[in-house]
Amino acid sequence: MNNNLVTNIRQLLQYGAQQLAACSSTARLDSEVLLTHILQVDRTFLIVHAEQSVDAEQIERFTQLVQRRLLGEPIAYLLGRKEFWSLDLTVNANVLIPRPETEHLVETVLALPLPEHCQVLELGTGSGAIAIALATERPHWSITAVDISGAALEVAQLNGKRHHIDNITWLQSDWYRDLIPRQFNLIVSNPPYIATDELHLVQQSLIFEPQQLALMAGTDGMRAFTTIIQQAAHWLPPGGYLCLEHGYRQAESVTQCMAANHFHSINTVKDLANHPRITYGCYNQLKVGTD
Ligand SMILES: C[S@@+](CC[C@H](N)C(=O)[O-])C[C@H]1O[C@@H](n2cnc3c(N)ncnc32)[C@H](O)[C@@H]1O
Repeated sequence: MNNNLVTNIRQLLQYGAQQLAACSSTARLDSEVLLTHILQVDRTFLIVHAEQSVDAEQIERFTQLVQRRLLGEPIAYLLGRKEFWSLDLTVNANVLIPRPETEHLVETVLALPLPEHCQVLELGTGSGAIAIALATERPHWSITAVDISGAALEVAQLNGKRHHIDNITWLQSDWYRDLIPRQFNLIVSNPPYIATDELHLVQQSLIFEPQQLALMAGTDGMRAFTTIIQQAAHWLPPGGYLCLEHGYRQAESVTQCMAANHFHSINTVKDLANHPRITYGCYNQLKVGTD
């Protein structure tokens, strides 16, 4: 870009929109969002102050973001933030960007018949999105949020602090391995669920997300589900719930695995695109050992 030709907000926005048209159908909006981030203003400001001048450093930083976006990096990583459940969450390349589908998992959990002082375990918390959404909705609940990635937990803890959450205990653990034995009323998880040979089918933007830990789950995509479901019996009392987000083609496998591990009243909830996305069931210890 010839910096001499770009001196104000209007021109910089126009430059961004022209560049981003190569990769986005919402190029003008993307350009505005990136510039609001650089200038730390809202979109109205950009319109009202379109003729305000921009300095060389602002132009340089904006240009760098545009270039990264052109390479496919998700907007959330460029901004370092993502909204989830009306909460502004910090994200970086160590955590999966929370998805709108996952808000259905939160909704589903909130609709379950759980005690007022519910003890919750979230497995694979990433940015902390699910645990923090539940903690803000249910301040009387006591939540333990686990991730195997220390770098992800740092982000989750930061998000917890930013939202003044005091009812979550954060723990680095390989699923249940480092938990002190105890019982929970609910286990909730959005674990990795993409099959190794399906990686080529997923969006290109996923190459920027933490694939091995956050996304990939063995040859059939069921590895994490199998571990979580099979071991849940040690952590749930009879009547405790397990609630899982899964891929849109995995409802049957997840249901079968839950049924084979003494869960009953198993239900699947669809997302806004009408895809089966969440499956939950109630644990019944009475069936253990009777099969
Ligand atoms: C699909 S991401 C979900 C992140 C977040 N809960 C969300 O919904 O946005 C899966 C998370 O599980 C974590 N994870 C993967 N394997 C794990 C394991 N063995 N034990 C604990 N966490 C694990 C990853 O680090 C990642 O943060």
